[in-house]
Amino acid sequence: MKVRSHFSTTNRSHLCGSLRLFDAGTSVRLGGWVHRRRNLGGIVFIDLRDRAGMVQVSFDPRYMDPALVEAAGSLGAENVVQVDGEVVERPPDKRNAEIATGDVEVRATSFRLASPALTPAIPVARGKGEQLPSEEQRLRHRYLDLRRPELQANLILRHRLLQATRRYLSEREFLEIETPILTKPTPEGARDYLVPSRVHPGEFYALPQSPQLYKQLLMVSGFDRYFQIARCFRDEDLRADRQPEFTQIDVEASFVDPEDIYEVAEGLVAALWLEAGRQISTPFRRLTYAEAVEKYGSDRPDLRYDLEIFDASEAFRGSEFAITSAVLSRGGRVRGIRIPSGAGLSRKQVDDIEIVAKSVGAGGLIRIKQVNGALEGQASKYVSDRGREALGLLDGDLCLMVAASDSVSSPALDRVRQDVARRMNLVPSDVLSFLWVTDFPAFERDARNGQLSFVHHPFTSPHPDDVALLDTAPERARALAYDVVLNGVELGGGSIRIHDPRLQSRIFSLLGMDDATAESRFAFLLEGLRAGAPPHGGIAFGFDRIAMMLTGAASLRDVIAFPKTTAARALFEGAPSTVPAADLADLHIRAVHASI
Ligand code: AMO
Repeated sequence: MKVRSHFSTTNRSHLCGSLRLFDAGTSVRLGGWVHRRRNLGGIVFIDLRDRAGMVQVSFDPRYMDPALVEAAGSLGAENVVQVDGEVVERPPDKRNAEIATGDVEVRATSFRLASPALTPAIPVARGKGEQLPSEEQRLRHRYLDLRRPELQANLILRHRLLQATRRYLSEREFLEIETPILTKPTPEGARDYLVPSRVHPGEFYALPQSPQLYKQLLMVSGFDRYFQIARCFRDEDLRADRQPEFTQIDVEASFVDPEDIYEVAEGLVAALWLEAGRQISTPFRRLTYAEAVEKYGSDRPDLRYDLEIFDASEAFRGSEFAITSAVLSRGGRVRGIRIPSGAGLSRKQVDDIEIVAKSVGAGGLIRIKQVNGALEGQASKYVSDRGREALGLLDGDLCLMVAASDSVSSPALDRVRQDVARRMNLVPSDVLSFLWVTDFPAFERDARNGQLSFVHHPFTSPHPDDVALLDTAPERARALAYDVVLNGVELGGGSIRIHDPRLQSRIFSLLGMDDATAESRFAFLLEGLRAGAPPHGGIAFGFDRIAMMLTGAASLRDVIAFPKTTAARALFEGAPSTVPAADLADLHIRAVHASI
């Protein structure tokens, strides 16, 4: 028995894109948008589109009123029409294997124009190989861009991923609990969006950078396992994988250690990939932060390819080479990457790779290649026979090196690694390389003013083995913090939290906050912790990033219905915008910007 679809309404029997050969002979009533129209020898063909896809509708004077055929012949793109007709099998030579409905067409018997449409500001239908309009144009006319089948498919998958998340976590007894949007600042390393209070002059709410403090308080309140599909707001510099307003899958649980979180998180990720049709294997690989930075120069390495960083200091130790000896004598290192077959890269290509390394602070790249058993490159004359062993090159290899402190060579070699892999086609497109990066440092020290700042957030528990370091060398203390990385993209991050209020106060003071400030900013957390807090921890995934990876989209904007530009503007709605002075006065605010 065929189940009546939820799409069947008085004015529609089927979705255009759902029709198949087994529907042949069925009378249908469709509603949709004119995607394309062709008039051929007195017959009008229209590709009619709805959210399920497209079907060809023929308007043929042999089967319907010729006046209606003529009217159909002048329908413009994106007009909305309702069509009555019959599904007929297409003759074998007229089938279209490129669309799911391509074995059939709908032979119209009548139709009605439900809504005319202005000539679309940007085309929805595109010819093969035809470029998309500029992204600015598409965001400006988002309602039209969202009609594109690619974006429809992205948002439909996004919906399914949301449902799969709810299913997976609910089945494991996690409770979905909403937390406030008008709240107090939650430090996650970005600036806050502030909302002025009308009833409390001079006071502001902050939009949450994450629900971090609330989920911890929910643990204090005994909810034990919580999740939320949470909207977060961060005023930070935007990139393709960052939006000012984004969605997290936020998870927290009590009486857990990192292994418990890894298990739930891996299960959730596997469920989401399965929802998108891909089986992945768990458990994920693991690297400590220290290993990741030593071998790949990054705390989110792309492990789809090798190109490991190695310590090439020995190759130059004791040599006269001014660049390396200066660095080695200061306690720095020479680190590099061996590139198999890299000797084939042209000088210009290596110059371009050097520009990438310089863009993140390296002075330059030392280049040595091995050709026919001999080392080549200006620096090669400084390499002794013993040094040659340390380089360990094979014929055809190129070695690119940076002589500097690790804080300079790591980011530079990370960029070199990525650039070389891309140039040499070393990135397999269908491999998924999931990774846990663990044991992050708890703090980093600002080289200019010596001030400590947190790496994850200030509520993260120090590693139990490193608590003693908090007094002596806090920058060396590790945290019980972990990130999930996929192919070089940080999908999520979390930690075990501090549940001891005294330790939490101590961390605030290490971060340079005096007691009074800590109490005023975080009283509600500290009070909660003093009321009896279970040990707890959790994680948050960037949901948009997951959707981006699963749809293969190049930008978060392609998986968010109404995204912002990289300048944090909503082009279609026209936000942000100025407001009348009277509205500001109500909020006890005076704008001082020159243009207002
Ligand atoms: P974190 O700041 O690492 O952790 O954020 C978690 C994940 O959210 C995603 N993400 C973003 N996605 C899009 N646009 C942005 N601007 C953006 N910023 C972050 C990333 C990131 O891995 N409260 C902690 C989690 C915890 O400790 O449980 C937190 O927010 O994929």
